[in-house]
Amino acid sequence: MMIAITGASGPLGRATAEAVLRTVDPREVMLTTRRSAALTDFVRRGVHVRPADFDDVRTVTESLTGVDRLLLISTDKVGARLEQHRAAIAGATEAGVSHIVYTSVPEPVPGNPALVVADHAGTERTLRASGLRWTMLRNHLYAHLQLSAIQQAIASGQLVTNSGTGAAAYVTREDCAAVAAAVLTQGGHEDRVLDVSGPEAVDAKGLATLAREIAGRDVEVVAVDDHTFTEGLRAAGLPESAARLVTSFGAATRGGFLEKVSSTVADLTGRRPTSFAEVVRAALTS
Ligand SMILES: NC(=O)c1ccc[n+]([C@@H]2O[C@H](COP(=O)([O-])OP(=O)(O)OC[C@H]3O[C@@H](n4cnc5c(N)ncnc54)[C@H](OP(=O)(O)O)[C@@H]3O)[C@@H](O)[C@H]2O)c1
Repeated sequence: MMIAITGASGPLGRATAEAVLRTVDPREVMLTTRRSAALTDFVRRGVHVRPADFDDVRTVTESLTGVDRLLLISTDKVGARLEQHRAAIAGATEAGVSHIVYTSVPEPVPGNPALVVADHAGTERTLRASGLRWTMLRNHLYAHLQLSAIQQAIASGQLVTNSGTGAAAYVTREDCAAVAAAVLTQGGHEDRVLDVSGPEAVDAKGLATLAREIAGRDVEVVAVDDHTFTEGLRAAGLPESAARLVTSFGAATRGGFLEKVSSTVADLTGRRPTSFAEVVRAALTS
């Protein structure tokens, strides 16, 4: 059986490929990318590397011919990637792929203010209607993406947030990769929606407690509204689109859309997920 991973030069693609290769012969693994030169290390290990760009569906069909099970990694073009994902699903279908595993988001439902939701909801709908077998991996927010907020809190003594009393079940990218690899290699996860979370949901008080532990001094939570939060991110140098995206995740956290803790990591990999506190302590203490 041939297993393929799209967007394989990105960190999630590479980590998933490494996890798959722990149990699968490299000759049964295909990595597709727009940047083949970035994956020569895998070629040397006997893995197939082929070009595929969702903006050119022909490359997807050509490269995925002979593939059975595919991890479709959502692209980074937030707000404009639904067409890319539709092309990828069409290209994979044409190529004869039978099962697509897709990296989605928790709670891709109307009312969830996270700006990534529309793309993911549309892709999930397309996949369900494709006639192929599918698995939705609803990956929670990456834990490492919160490190800058903790560092900022350590430096200023204030954890500024628009997440209210909401909590988020941050997960590591490595745990997301391990789950993706398990779905690709184990089988038996067809037509399932899997929430992929860390072991607990952490609210702003929890973030401040960690910052306090590392700073060795008081860190207070400063709750602000979405507008004030976006302005603060802009003032700190974030581009407009990134500031709006981060604000929308805070709003989604406040609304309870990111708090659901699942047992998926342990169930599929046999080991406990890394906690948010472990990520923070490993990165910010010496
Ligand atoms: N859960 C979270 O907190 C979180 C955070 C950030 C991102 N994400 C999502 O998870 C995905 C993987 O993330 P990552 O951690 O590996 O970071 P990343 O560096 O943002 O990965 C971007 C990926 O998109 C692929 N891509 C971009 N344009 C493409 C196109 N036209 N056709 C095919 N592939 C395209 C890239 O593949 P090549 O360059 O190899 O072609 C690359 O693998 C992201 O794309 C994003 O959708 C989730």
